[in-house]
Amino acid sequence: PIPIFTTVASFREWRRKAFDEKKTVGFVPTMGALHDGHLSLVKHSLASNDLTVVSIFVNPTQFAPNEDLATYPRTLSLDLELLSAMSYTPDSSSSSSNPSPSGVVRTPSAVFLPSVQEMYPSGVSQSVDAQKGTFVEVKGYGEQMEGKSRPTFFRGVATVVTKLFNAIEPTNAYFGQKDIQQGLLLRRMVRDTLLSHPDPEHLHIMPTARDPTDGLALSSRNVYLTLAERQFAPTLYAALQAARDAWTSGWTKDESVSAAIQLVNNRAQQIVSEVEVKVDYIDMNDAETFEVVHGATTAQSVAGRPVILSGAVWVGRTRLIDNLILGDE
Ligand code: PAJ
Repeated sequence: PIPIFTTVASFREWRRKAFDEKKTVGFVPTMGALHDGHLSLVKHSLASNDLTVVSIFVNPTQFAPNEDLATYPRTLSLDLELLSAMSYTPDSSSSSSNPSPSGVVRTPSAVFLPSVQEMYPSGVSQSVDAQKGTFVEVKGYGEQMEGKSRPTFFRGVATVVTKLFNAIEPTNAYFGQKDIQQGLLLRRMVRDTLLSHPDPEHLHIMPTARDPTDGLALSSRNVYLTLAERQFAPTLYAALQAARDAWTSGWTKDESVSAAIQLVNNRAQQIVSEVEVKVDYIDMNDAETFEVVHGATTAQSVAGRPVILSGAVWVGRTRLIDNLILGDE
């Protein structure tokens, strides 16, 4: 079985040894309820590090009081089984930057499974006003896009990931494009706070893993969906692709985004079963500043600046998010 560390102190002993032995440590932070998206990050880490650490911690401070902290899926024993079953055998001709000696199978080395007490020595409170202790804010980058709908979310994420980075001290850290604003904001945070483990170049954002049949972005929250909602769910990805195609063919941002929103709403009306659909937002933002792209902008006029096309849609009580990066090929 994979060693499980529940305290920072015990993990640090393990980490000290890895430092002494000059072994690289890849890190995949998660909130558990693992799916193939998480596992794809673990695979990337196994492929390019001597050792791989996965953390499982449902972080209370990134949930607003009205959100799903209490019902967030917790599947610890299954998570541990999935991680135990993972292995990576580098082939000797592999061009990986850090291939293991040929034939040596790599498996996840450690799971970090802290309690809320361990991660928040000063305690936690669900209401931001009542919080005490130390928090990390990335000002100017957590208010747009996801932050507009979830104003305290990135404060909770930046705070917990700072703590996790201080505990794990990874050589490399792996995040998913599924949560693109989170990955980019954390890379900025690492740079701003002069963290060295990881350094900004070693915070990697990997492609979104999708359902192979209909393209739905994998998410721990997909288990909330009813059968009818699950059938509707890939519409967000389809709408983003439609907006990208319109944009690429010369439509303005406003035209492209409106077409996507219309597509979601039209398909919502077409379904017979009662699925309640509400577009939270679909928009384009500058990938560097997160500023909203001006409505009249076209693909030709952004002059190669990468743009994030992202959206959030409520399907019943579940909030789905997805995104595409445009002009970054
Ligand atoms: P969680 O939602 O469990 O996601 C953990 C990591 O898996 C994140 O980097 C996320 O972007 C990535 N991920 C999720 N779905 C993915 C998919 N379909 N394809 C590829 N990667 C995917 O994100 C969090 O947890 C938390 O905010 C955390 C960073 C752990 C801080 O609490």
